[in-house]
Amino acid sequence: MTDAVKLGFNAIGAAPKGVLVVFCDDRLGFGPATRKALAATGDLVARAAKAERFAGKAGSAIELVMPEGLKLPRLLVIGTGKATELKAKDFLKFGGIAMGKLPAGASEATILAELPDGAMSAAQAADVAQGVRLRAYAFNRYKTKRKDDERRAAATVSVAVSDVAAARAAFAAREAVADGVDTARDLVNEPPNVLYPEEFARRAAALKKFGVVVEVLDRKAMTKIGMGALLGVGQGSARESRTVVMRWNGGKKGEAPVAFIGKGVCFDTGGISIKPAAGMEDMKGDMAGAACVVGLMQALAKRKAKVNAVGVIGVVENMPDGNAQRPGDIVTSLSGQTIEIINTDAEGRLVLADVLWYTAKRFSPKFMVNLATLTGAIIVALGHEYAGMFANDDKLAERLTEAGQETGEVVWRMPLGPEYDKQIDSKFADVKNTAGSRAGGAITAAQFIQRFIADKTPWAHLDIAGTGFDSRQNDINKSWGSGWGVRLLDRLVSEWYEQK
Ligand code: BES
Ligand code: MN
Ligand code: ZN
Repeated sequence: MTDAVKLGFNAIGAAPKGVLVVFCDDRLGFGPATRKALAATGDLVARAAKAERFAGKAGSAIELVMPEGLKLPRLLVIGTGKATELKAKDFLKFGGIAMGKLPAGASEATILAELPDGAMSAAQAADVAQGVRLRAYAFNRYKTKRKDDERRAAATVSVAVSDVAAARAAFAAREAVADGVDTARDLVNEPPNVLYPEEFARRAAALKKFGVVVEVLDRKAMTKIGMGALLGVGQGSARESRTVVMRWNGGKKGEAPVAFIGKGVCFDTGGISIKPAAGMEDMKGDMAGAACVVGLMQALAKRKAKVNAVGVIGVVENMPDGNAQRPGDIVTSLSGQTIEIINTDAEGRLVLADVLWYTAKRFSPKFMVNLATLTGAIIVALGHEYAGMFANDDKLAERLTEAGQETGEVVWRMPLGPEYDKQIDSKFADVKNTAGSRAGGAITAAQFIQRFIADKTPWAHLDIAGTGFDSRQNDINKSWGSGWGVRLLDRLVSEWYEQK
């Protein structure tokens, strides 16, 4: 839900309207158009900078109310630091800061997209605009009252650029991606009584309007093909499980697709191995992986990506019940491998086991990337900054790492190996769903998933338990649901797998 901003592009020479946003480097240098726009203020900015000890550090800012000499309500100066070697994520951040500093009462703003050495490129200005969009998101669907300091009407934000047509063209794709991020955030923020598996599947099916081919497998269909691992997780819920397959065919006919798979646990109580009460409400976000896949497919379709892509999500609810799965149960997965359930709270890997096997067998994709809020252990290891990455393919891992550095959705590679793998051998079945010890819990979870990667398909698993929701609030996100991964994977696709 991003009704807080209307974005547009204008020529950099035109008279600015509303709050004026400008950029300076760490020597307080401005570009030529900015100097011109500020000429009437004399040395006001220099004096204000001195008074505030503002040194143009990247991401720092000073605000001047009713700046003398300008007929504008407010001037915002944002530091870029050393203006050399700025990445996409930096321009996003500048846009996010600008939007964040816009008072709730302000209805208009102009951002001068210029660095000290001249106008920003179309791509850089479009990144600033995307940052504005991402920051403007707020999930207000269930608030019936607004506080006085909350925005009531959308602000009109105009980005002043040297080449309006080029900036608009560059923004079109970024707008599609921002829409995808917002879709993912909406899904994560929705309460679990509203967003149960069938409803999640309906929302994914809404991607049809963008040209995505959507198929929904219900319980009957999944029983027929043998998805015993996924179905076991959902069997204690009054809500039926679903698997949703989304296909965007923007590439060459017949070319193998890239594949994205998401864990969609609409609510994770832990099941019979029930979780403690404190913080359990957060487990409405246990579908952040699936939400990212839906947002990504929307982004690829809306920007008409020249790629064949499939998104597959397993959507379930993990509840304790008379019919729920027990510790000790043995289920047969789609792969034919039998799984001993040790802990019903290790449910995400069971869902992924079936959807990953299904995806590899049905689509023979170029690679698979799965996203899952899989383990508390990855939060212990990496906190909320990096997602954990596990991969059977160095090339894919390198590309994901690089896309992370560029977008700011960073991933840190974790190890896999036979010493970890043997910890999930079972006394009674082919494999058990948790290792004997909590040590290396994110790794043994990844080892479990790896046993369900068919045909040596290149694969990466992103454990987003620390990044999918909460604590990832920053300059371009103030929402609980972060939409993490949409920008990362869009970048992976556009950089490496799209026809140019
Ligand atoms: N959904 C949780 C993991 C999680 C925890 C995500 C906190 C986000 C924030 C997952 O299903 C789970 O319960 N994992 C267990 C595994 C354990 C039983 C082996 C965990 O991490 O404790
Ligand atoms: Mn769990
Ligand atoms: Zn879970």
